[in-house]
Amino acid sequence: MNQELETIKQNVIKCTKCNLCKTRTNAVPGKGNFQSDVIFVGEAPGRNEDKNREPFIGVAGKKLSIALDEAGISREDVYITNIVKCRPPNNRVPSTNERDTCKEYLKQEISIIKPKIICILGNTAFNSILGGSEITKFRGKVVRKDNLLYFLTIHPAATIYNQKLIDVLKNDIIKLFELIKELKNNKEVTIDIEYTS
Ligand code: URA
Ligand code: SF4
Repeated sequence: MNQELETIKQNVIKCTKCNLCKTRTNAVPGKGNFQSDVIFVGEAPGRNEDKNREPFIGVAGKKLSIALDEAGISREDVYITNIVKCRPPNNRVPSTNERDTCKEYLKQEISIIKPKIICILGNTAFNSILGGSEITKFRGKVVRKDNLLYFLTIHPAATIYNQKLIDVLKNDIIKLFELIKELKNNKEVTIDIEYTS
């Protein structure tokens, strides 16, 4: 493991910067390959993640793994994290304050890993990072903001009760890795949405 990421991990594990520290079992740091070309960003840990201190290991995580498999990618090849690192009680959506407080860790993860692209999984990450909403309208799109590239897709949990959406997720992930291949070959990729600040 990369030393700087290890430091973030230790800081997350002992973090008490927001209220979620009071109800969590374990804070859940990001996990994966520090040389990954992509960082996946979900919402927050759920019950299984909270118990085991690992992101995306429950049912939603299985869906993400299935979609990655389809693109020929192993979970060990990528880096997976969340907007907030502690489970909100009853899996409620994390508050603006919780997200803003925890965002610093994500910023650090991004600045160390320097991914070619960041894959936003679902509305909470979309809203927290880009101020967006209605991910179903924007999924499949590439966004550029502050010199970072983002790819938008649905949250894997949305596919649990909707078989059609698993195909949507799989196809988006396939597209994402095609984009990554182009980026690695220094090809121009089409930017669908450009944020100017
Ligand atoms: N859902 C998320 O957004 N993140 C996890 O880690 C697990 C489920
Ligand atoms: Fe700290 Fe983030 Fe957990 Fe809040 S959610 S206690 S900011 S690690």
